[in-house]
Amino acid sequence: QALTAQAARVDLGGGHLSNVLAYNGLFPGPTFAVDSGNSVAVTLNNKLADATTIHWHGLVVPTVADGQPHEAIPTHYPNPYTYAFTVNQRAAFNFYHPHPHLNTGSQVYHGLAGAFIVRDTEERSLGLPGGTYEAPLVIRDASFDSTGNLTYGGKASGFLGNTPLVNGTLSPYLAVDRGVYRFRVVNAATARIFRLALANGGAFRIIGNDGGLLPRPVSVTWVDVSPAERLDVLIDFSALASGQSLMLRCLNAKWDLLEFRGTGNPGASYAPPTTLSSITPLVLPAGGTVRRFSFDGMTRINGKLFSMDRIDFQVPAGAVEKWTFVTNGNAPHPVHIHGASFQVVARRGGRAQLFPWEAGWKDTVLLNDREEVDVLIRFDPRLVTTGPQRYLIHCHKLEHEDAGMMSAFRVT
Ligand code: C2O
Ligand code: CU
Ligand code: CU
Repeated sequence: QALTAQAARVDLGGGHLSNVLAYNGLFPGPTFAVDSGNSVAVTLNNKLADATTIHWHGLVVPTVADGQPHEAIPTHYPNPYTYAFTVNQRAAFNFYHPHPHLNTGSQVYHGLAGAFIVRDTEERSLGLPGGTYEAPLVIRDASFDSTGNLTYGGKASGFLGNTPLVNGTLSPYLAVDRGVYRFRVVNAATARIFRLALANGGAFRIIGNDGGLLPRPVSVTWVDVSPAERLDVLIDFSALASGQSLMLRCLNAKWDLLEFRGTGNPGASYAPPTTLSSITPLVLPAGGTVRRFSFDGMTRINGKLFSMDRIDFQVPAGAVEKWTFVTNGNAPHPVHIHGASFQVVARRGGRAQLFPWEAGWKDTVLLNDREEVDVLIRFDPRLVTTGPQRYLIHCHKLEHEDAGMMSAFRVT
């Protein structure tokens, strides 16, 4: 498979063409779907004006395939670069995006992002809604100039667009049958947090997040999703008659995101089992290592700006560690770690609670002002790269990341 990253003109649904950056001319890029255990080889042709990479967010891959800033592919690099890896992890909804030094926010903002679905037998055994009853929702924001082109002012404080885009479309709608749909949601915005809810206040079920299935489904009437977080959601439209519509909204921005239009046709009925997956809790051993990461201002972790030339710490493979994320301000900081999923075990200060959609396995967790968040993490020795390797922890508010809120480490 090949991805060409290139400037393109696409119709975002406003009736005119917008200048964007796109993979294979698509905004968002093509959706990959791969079975766990299979190998993937994706060749990148960089026809952008700048260096780029592809990072497979949520996938644990060798460092050479992780698309970090150090492995940037120069503009118009003559030899296409192939990202090759085996998918060694459970079913989950991941995504891919550029990760070049100082330029991630701009490239993602201008359209370079796509969905990457991993499936496995455990998930298949649940018989979840599929085919036309399953859809990825790549949710983000954007601002436009008077000619319909994207505008981006990526200062370190973050960029908030003034318009939502779902799957690269303005004012989108989806025709839905009278049944249950499965939506795979990713927040692909650079900085904005969406609070998703149905306009009628109705409940929906969350069955998964970043790292795959939750232990059990949870029924909610709203959910927060910060940049790079994912959700696996079931919405029941069996009461939606032909001609009726129901809006998916963002309660934070008071935006309509996606209109569901009832077809009146019969759909699939589905009730999830009370247990979706069994997830073994990580346990910090007595005397286990505790690390503290302070997200300082808009640019630093533990007082330091990111440097391409520095490795900040070493983590032993296979050991369970507790990592505590703290901040005194300039949040939200959606904290993301490459190379392992983690379990969120505590939040003190700020919102002072864990949310049901933070159960299971996560690779990004929202750290808000005055919060301390504890996670337990373990890097699987079987997946640790031999030879040159590097891992990253960073804020996924991409303007913070580009401004230096990132740290590199090794797993040995
Ligand atoms: Cu989605 Cu290092 O990022
Ligand atoms: Cu990542
Ligand atoms: Cu941040």
